[in-house]
Formats: sequence, C-alpha cells, structure tokens
Amino acid sequence: MEKIDEVALRAKQSLQEAGSLTDLERFYASYLAKKGEVSALLSHMKELPPQEKAAFGKEVNELKKGLSEAYEAKKSELEAEALKKKLEAERIDISLPGDSLNSGHPNPFRLIIDEVTDIFLDMGYEVYSGRDVETDLYNFELLNVPEDHPARDMQDTFYLDANRLLRTQTSAAQAHAMKERGGLTPIKMISPGKTYRRDDDDATHSHQFAQIEGLVVDKNISLANLKATLELFAKKMFGPKREIRLRSSYFPFTEPSVEVDVSCFNCGGKGCSICKGSGWIEILGAGMVNPKVLQMCGYDPEVWSGFAFGVGVERVAMLRYGIDDIRRFYTNDYRFLKEFKAK
Ligand code: PHE
Repeated sequence: MEKIDEVALRAKQSLQEAGSLTDLERFYASYLAKKGEVSALLSHMKELPPQEKAAFGKEVNELKKGLSEAYEAKKSELEAEALKKKLEAERIDISLPGDSLNSGHPNPFRLIIDEVTDIFLDMGYEVYSGRDVETDLYNFELLNVPEDHPARDMQDTFYLDANRLLRTQTSAAQAHAMKERGGLTPIKMISPGKTYRRDDDDATHSHQFAQIEGLVVDKNISLANLKATLELFAKKMFGPKREIRLRSSYFPFTEPSVEVDVSCFNCGGKGCSICKGSGWIEILGAGMVNPKVLQMCGYDPEVWSGFAFGVGVERVAMLRYGIDDIRRFYTNDYRFLKEFKAK
C-alpha cells in the first residue's frame, strides 16, 4: 500500500508539472502505459497474502482510473492552449498594407474614345469601322477634294504608292458608309480611328492622331439638328452648363461648314489660360454634308440631306485631363500612363 502511495504521489506531481503535450505523453508512458509504473504495481500482488489481494487490486485500479481521468483533462487543456497559441501566431493582420498588382488599364486616349462612343450610342448612333489604308478616291475625291484642290495641302499625306495612302481624316469613312448603303437607307453613325499627316511633331501636332467622325444622312436633316446634337454632346462630355457656339468655316465636303466652340469648362466663360482668355474652346469641325458629296456617294441630294462632324480625340483628351503635350499619348511613358488608372 505504501508503494501505491509513493507511485501515486510521483505520478500526480509529474502530471501537475507537465507543461506541454510532449511532457504529458512522457507522463503517460511512465505511469499509465502497459509497461508503466501503475501496471507494474500489480506484479506485487503475488507477494501478498490472499486476503489482501482484493483490496490491493482495487486500490491500484482506482489509482489508474483517477490518473487516466486527470490525464484526459490535462490533455484537452493543453491541446486548447496549443491551438490558441497557433491561432495567435498565424493571425492575419488586416491593417497591414497589401501588395498591389500591376494590372493594365486603358490609355487616356482610349478612355476618351469610349466616352464619346457611349454618348453617341445613347443617341442611337452605330459605330462604323473605317480603315487606316485608304485610296485617293475615298480620302479625297468622294469628299469633294479633287486632285488640284488646295485643301490637299492642308493635309499633307503619307502615300504608300500612287493610289494608296494613310488616311488623313476619318471623313473617308463617311464615303464608305454612304457607298455601302447604296443611297437607300438613312445613316446615323460615328467612326473613331487613327489618322495620319506629314506634320512635324511638336506639343500640339503629331503625325499620327485620332478622330471620331460623325455622319447623319436622312430626310429633312437640318443645321438645327447638327447644333442640337453637338450641344448635347458638349454637355455630356464637358458638363451640363456648357454652351456651344458655331463659327463659319470651310471644309470641301460640308456646306455650310462650321467650327464648333464649347464654353470653357475651366473658367465657365470668364477667360483663363486654357481658353486663352476668350471663354471659348474649339473642339471640332462640322457642317451639312455637301450635296456634291451626297451625289457622288449615291444619295440623291433632292431627297436626302445630312450633317457630319469630326472630333480630334487627343485635343479633347488634352483639354479634359489638362495634358500639355500631344506626344505624351504616343511615347508610352509609364509614369504618365499610370495617372489614368483610376479614371
Ligand atoms: N475631316 C475634317 C478634318 O480633319 C473634320 C470634319 C469632319 C469637318 C466632318 C467637317 C465634317 O479637319
């Protein structure tokens, strides 16, 4: 019995001192396992007189049961503690700054084209794709710019061979659209795309730039329709308070022709550096489709009339984003381009 007490005392102490699951397993191996000290106590049975055997066996079994229960309890306690420590160590600190991925985003120039396109899609226009390589016929002749016309000098051209050229204006798409419709159905389209001119590059000129052409051909189309359309466009693009003003101008393919100004979105018309003190900013060229052009492209000018306009994409983007140099659109400087990520 003394031996039992002695083992019990050591076992309890060992259990109490176990500070980790490894200590606890060591305790189990020493006392409770098959070859542990508690089972070993039973080997003393044979040394005992028969009348004491039962009491001795009972005592050992009780010790074993008590220690087993204490062991289980301690085990859950240590496991819970270990789990808590682990969670603590693996905690995610959501206040730490994240790693930002360098994802792509549209060029500012693309953003403007998309914005303008959306405005006209809302007004029921379709998008017509023109082509970069044109013939003299579509870029000039059908637009009432014959061979010897001085307007050809305004648009110094990159020729690929005697007949093919890089288009100098998206207006070439007007002629294609009209020819394709065969003079039969109304047209209400815009056509964004690249254009090319033999210009010396500087802050406001680029040999490659982009335009968005607009063309409406239907019955009873008037200058009032053109004005209303462009006014709505200017308000949606530059703000609801914007007004437009038409100034007389000249393009061979429109008659009459106008230059369209929008009231300055920066100063509201008072005069500032953006509008160069005038309160107005020129944004596009437009006019009523010249009857000669309708005729050449297959639309009877006695029946049909139309208007057309051409917006300079870079110019709008420069005004809109306060960009000072057109070359920025084409030099792919990432520091510049990334400014437009959020927009
Ligand atoms: N094509 C003209 C230009 O490049 C712009 C324009 C388009 C003018 C349509 C009138 C009508 O300057």
